[in-house]
Amino acid sequence: MSDAKRAASEVAPPLPGEAHRAPAVRAMFDRIAPTYDLLNRVLALRVDVAWRRRLIRTLALREGDHLLDLCAGTMDVAAEARRQAPLARVTGADFSLPMLSRGARKTGLPAAQADALALPFKAQSFDALTVAFGVRNLEDLPTGLSEMARVLRPGARLGVLEFFRPQSAGSRLVHNVYNRALLPVVGRAISKDPGAYRYLVESMERFVPREEFERLCREAGFRDVQGVTLFPGVCGLVTGVRA
Ligand SMILES: C[S@@+](CC[C@H](N)C(=O)[O-])C[C@H]1O[C@@H](n2cnc3c(N)ncnc32)[C@H](O)[C@@H]1O
Repeated sequence: MSDAKRAASEVAPPLPGEAHRAPAVRAMFDRIAPTYDLLNRVLALRVDVAWRRRLIRTLALREGDHLLDLCAGTMDVAAEARRQAPLARVTGADFSLPMLSRGARKTGLPAAQADALALPFKAQSFDALTVAFGVRNLEDLPTGLSEMARVLRPGARLGVLEFFRPQSAGSRLVHNVYNRALLPVVGRAISKDPGAYRYLVESMERFVPREEFERLCREAGFRDVQGVTLFPGVCGLVTGVRA
């Protein structure tokens, strides 16, 4: 690792709510792309695979549907969509080329380098949209959600997996045990990027709680917005329909 890369890896990118985050967030994902899949599997004890499966199942994709997997990263969600709905069209989009090119190579699916805050797609182009562990990274959440609403046709489905800010005392306890004790040790061993796993923990604590995210979805033009906790203090799934 070069000195410049090592120095950058020590610093966590700015957190949700802080200004001018996008370049540092993108540089962090560019940096951790080679170890992202391994880190994901180990840190989530493979439960993330089941979460992504459930995300796709809730969308009930039909033949010919076009799904946009936004903040697609290495495209595990896109791959799961292809597995569950082989006759649907699936496109991945992400602003980090190192993440996305790994995903495109791994899945063979179409991928577009794109910023979620200014999507290069026409209005009403998609029948479904997923974001897994991506919305927490957006510099401007309302703008991101209104871009998602813009590219979806009325009646299209949205599914968002995310680490929302834990609210209850019980979920804060789970969060603290897992994120403060286990994650730094495993993260340091695999990624050698202390800034990245510090960002992972701190950005969860600074992100909106799930109920507030659901309200923002309604304001952006989604109806029937519903949220469930998949793992207390750690992961939630929010679904909605483009009004
Ligand atoms: C934690 S990874 C999640 C990747 C994948 N969805 C998964 O389930 O593993 C977050 C991804 O969001 C992408 N991202 C963050 N902000 C973005 C933005 N404004 N536009 C596009 N992609 C963005 C990052 O580059 C990164 O690949």
